[in-house]
Amino acid sequence: MEDREREIMLDFVRVTETAALRAARFMGRGDRDAVDQAAVDGMRGMLDLVNINGTVVIGEGEKDRAPMLYIGEQVGSGKDNDPVDIAVDPVEGTRLVACGLPNAISTIVAADSGCLLPVPGFYMEKIAVGPQARGYIDLEAPVRENLRVVAAALGKKVRDLTVVVLDRPRHKELIEEIRSCGARIKLILDGDVAGAIATALPETGVDILMGIGGAPEAVLAAAALKCLGGELQVKLWGADQETKAKAKEINLDPDSILTIEDLAKGESIIFAATGITDGELLRGVRYGSGWAKTHSIVMRERTKTVRFVETIHNLKYKTVRSRKEMAELEV
Ligand code: FBP
Repeated sequence: MEDREREIMLDFVRVTETAALRAARFMGRGDRDAVDQAAVDGMRGMLDLVNINGTVVIGEGEKDRAPMLYIGEQVGSGKDNDPVDIAVDPVEGTRLVACGLPNAISTIVAADSGCLLPVPGFYMEKIAVGPQARGYIDLEAPVRENLRVVAAALGKKVRDLTVVVLDRPRHKELIEEIRSCGARIKLILDGDVAGAIATALPETGVDILMGIGGAPEAVLAAAALKCLGGELQVKLWGADQETKAKAKEINLDPDSILTIEDLAKGESIIFAATGITDGELLRGVRYGSGWAKTHSIVMRERTKTVRFVETIHNLKYKTVRSRKEMAELEV
């Protein structure tokens, strides 16, 4: 998609903006399914207006379990274009939106066909850093050593580092180890894609992401960090026989460390995300009388341009495809 990247990249922002606008209506209502459904509907509808010949390789699940954005689904209006892989997470942090908590985003990645590793919902051990600490981390090294080298690369002391970790019982030991080294920890309830991206944007105050999270999220984070010049290393975690067999199907060695290049290959990568609730990375959706404001990031690997896009949507003129959609946007 090299020749058309520049034209279509902003269309991907429209896709995540629409998902975010719709999901944000359900903020704090305690209904995770409604949040997800609204975002999926919005994202799916808008994707059909993008001039691509896309196939969802990371989406809402297998066809029999997901009515839309299922793995293998064809998206886009440009059937004659070269094929592209699409990875989506219409709501990264569904619970965050349902509870009105920070850091939920809607996100999408496009890459040349065959460039995104089509991982199912495995868990992966992850470590991510921004460009300054790239080349220093090692997923298999002790936590203390990783913190030491990252601090040195950033010209800081270990006690000045902020490490993002998903708040999960499985991270008890990891958290204790980080604490014993003296680094600061930011526990997040959900959303390790935003956590990983934050490591590459100094104004977020985040230096490293560590811990175990979803494998599909690792692919999305890899695409973003590739555009930002950061580093991500991952490894399959807690794999039972069934997971190992599935890993084999996609030629994934359960014992090997995967890098960004294994997860998101090539130079033809577009990453877009829109904030649903407020976070360090992006501001959440704001609604006014007849308008809404969104805050997004869109990046392209080839040029490494990072754009933050603030959009004011006049809800009267939004591209909507049904009365139901109109009602949901409350035009
Ligand atoms: P959702 O997109 O389903 O809301 O998941 C959010 C998330 O927190 C990811 O950021 C993370 O990788 C994964 O879930 C962790 O999985 P688990 O909640 O099972 O520990």
